[in-house]
Amino acid sequence: MALPLTPIMYSARAQKMRASEIRELLKLTESEDIISFGGGMPDPTLFPKNEFAEIAKDVVRNEKALQYSPTDGIKPFRETVSRLLRKKGLRITYEDVLITTGSQQALDLISKVYLDPGDVVVSESPTYLSAIGAFKSYEADLIGIEMDEDGMDMDKLRNYLDEKDSRCKFIYTIPTYQNPSGITMSYEKRKELLEIAREYNKPIIEDDPYGELAYEGEMAKPIKSLPNSDLVAYLGTGSKILAPSLRVAWIVGPDELLKKCSMGKQSADLCTSALTQSLAKEFIDRGFLAPHLEKLKRVYREKRDAILEAMEKYFPSTVTWTHPNGGLFIWATLPKGMNTSEMLPRALEKGIAYVPGRAFHPDGSGENTLRINFSFSTLEEIDKGVKRLGELIKEAMA
Ligand SMILES: Cc1ncc(COP(=O)(O)O)c(C=O)c1O
Repeated sequence: MALPLTPIMYSARAQKMRASEIRELLKLTESEDIISFGGGMPDPTLFPKNEFAEIAKDVVRNEKALQYSPTDGIKPFRETVSRLLRKKGLRITYEDVLITTGSQQALDLISKVYLDPGDVVVSESPTYLSAIGAFKSYEADLIGIEMDEDGMDMDKLRNYLDEKDSRCKFIYTIPTYQNPSGITMSYEKRKELLEIAREYNKPIIEDDPYGELAYEGEMAKPIKSLPNSDLVAYLGTGSKILAPSLRVAWIVGPDELLKKCSMGKQSADLCTSALTQSLAKEFIDRGFLAPHLEKLKRVYREKRDAILEAMEKYFPSTVTWTHPNGGLFIWATLPKGMNTSEMLPRALEKGIAYVPGRAFHPDGSGENTLRINFSFSTLEEIDKGVKRLGELIKEAMA
């Protein structure tokens, strides 16, 4: 006789997981006729397909590229990454680099090794949506610190740490061309953040996927390149400068942190694909990266200029927005009382997508804000899409 089936119980953690309403809605943007300012996707026409095709012919013939590989990453790629990062001022060798399957895995591993339920992560507000997701999946609370034009408000950070420091496990920051705001932290604030971290003995997680995409001026100095930055773990990724599908990224950090993350990675995926690490390594070692970056910067700068011009032309004067010097995003603020989440279904009907700002606020505020990506759409789509968005905002205001 068959035993009666008992309901399958998910873990308490899984029971708390909620599908994001916004992600569900944004799935619709995969349809061809929507102009998407939603995801943070690179321009697909810029993927260096020919270079990868040439490299792949050699790489797939090497059986090591098809084999399991060390959890920390293949040594030649760790060497290549450490060489790149030394050019950004980090004083490191390959042993300071742990390869991860995308920076998203780095965020997950760091959460896994640092966070217990009820711990606190302090970040900028707004901050990267999927970092919030990673921290919350380990049942941490997130405290967002407001930003000024030059990054996180350091007085507010200090005040928070003075009052409630005990459960803060680390400070998470995206100092350069921040996702979602496009804001870059000034050099002075980088130094101050490091001082605060040392004073309160809190690690800094410095997430830097966009640092190379600088359209004006000098590339910003990573916090990890400053003196006495042992408390900083630095995250980089090939997603925006090579191709997101490679899923190659890196953590540079203190030895014990990398060891813990490596143990955590073993149970997550054993190793990052040696095939894609080899493709990325060869791409960089054969000298393809520098000209590719020049091309990315040229095209994205043009798109950034086009979108800012279109916003000036089509948006009502009561809307304000950031003017990023690099990266992929613009952050717009509508008048108080407006709600960009409620506007999204109507936007999709009009054939246009963006991400409502609330999703990036740890405390669920920011109803009147939105993130606009400018890398994915063509110049023509940018003009058409911003026009529609402007009309939508005017409709919603009326
Ligand atoms: C700030 C930030 N961190 C991490 C990631 C994840 O990148 P990856 O594709 O390497 O997982 C992104 C992707 O958009 C990002 O914007």
